[in-house]
Amino acid sequence: MKKKLLALFLASIMVLGLLAGCGGGNDKNSGGGSNDGGQQQEVNTPDPAPAPETGGDNTPAAGSAGTIGVCIYKFDDAFMTTYRNALQEILEGKGYQVTVVDGNNDQAKQNEQINTFITQGVDALIINPVMTSAAATIIDTVKTADIPTVLINREPTAEDMAAYEKLVYVGCDAAQSGTFQGELILDTANKGDINGDGKVSYIMIQGDPENIDAKLRTEYSVKALTDAGVEVEELNLTRGDWDREKGQTICANDLAQFGEKIEVVFCNNDDMAVGALQAIQSAGRKVNEDIYLVGVDALDAALNEVQAGNMTGTVLNDANGQAAQAVKCMEALLNGSTYGAGEQSVYVDYVKVTPDNVSDFMK
Ligand code: GAL
Repeated sequence: MKKKLLALFLASIMVLGLLAGCGGGNDKNSGGGSNDGGQQQEVNTPDPAPAPETGGDNTPAAGSAGTIGVCIYKFDDAFMTTYRNALQEILEGKGYQVTVVDGNNDQAKQNEQINTFITQGVDALIINPVMTSAAATIIDTVKTADIPTVLINREPTAEDMAAYEKLVYVGCDAAQSGTFQGELILDTANKGDINGDGKVSYIMIQGDPENIDAKLRTEYSVKALTDAGVEVEELNLTRGDWDREKGQTICANDLAQFGEKIEVVFCNNDDMAVGALQAIQSAGRKVNEDIYLVGVDALDAALNEVQAGNMTGTVLNDANGQAAQAVKCMEALLNGSTYGAGEQSVYVDYVKVTPDNVSDFMK
């Protein structure tokens, strides 16, 4: 099943601009980084797996390919946990010495971590910024240090990226995930209008609104309905910061306030949706009968709920595909490729997940 999924992930990679999945760019063939790392920074990850001396099993010796610093905005995020584990596995499998650090949702802390990696002389950086608005500063820092860098998950502006030719962003088109969420509702028997009053009344549980994923999922999920001619009514919109417990609390409060008026619960991600489901069940409501619930990410917990009929659907946010693409782009940069304005974003497709295809996504 994993292989089938991997094939699906790789097949779904969609590239914008001239950047052919990071195979393009202006290859100066300047070769990879040349330094040998230095002191490891203290991290909250397990020790690197012991590496074979010779790579006799085809696995290169750890560190033989170079040293990579990976900055994650916070470890305590369900989707980014899957993503960072995939990154670490791919990089270590290729013989890189990898250090993954937890930004604890604190941009000042992450800035220090980036500086520490630079002082240590890493060959390349992969950075999931804490704040999108910090991208310009991060880009300035890595440019000054001349470190090839792949930004992930939080998309900076094209203008910010254009400042540094050894920089690529790997992510997804957040609008697409929102559209897919709306389509999941349009695909239901009554197009979301359970009580037949001619409009779809919903609550929106939003991620961190500083993040473009949160903004665009919020906008495009509803737009899919209105574009299809469906009237909508927003009962409430509350930020839940991607967090399961907040998702539960928000949904419980909204159910107490709006009761049966709520026909659809849109959650910007699955962790909040799984929290919302607990509130829905506690309120005695039944998903797909008297309320609809959708998320994004295709976390294992959400896939189980989709299969059990407790979530209407979710949208695969392809952590494995994005991790593979980020490493591919990093290697292109290490091999001397550079990218101009308009060539620096690489998008991996989202995929709609419903009870009909959910088993394809389960391990
Ligand atoms: C989104 C993902 C969320 C959260 C967020 C962090 O793409 O759907 O669950 O991980 O990234 O920036």
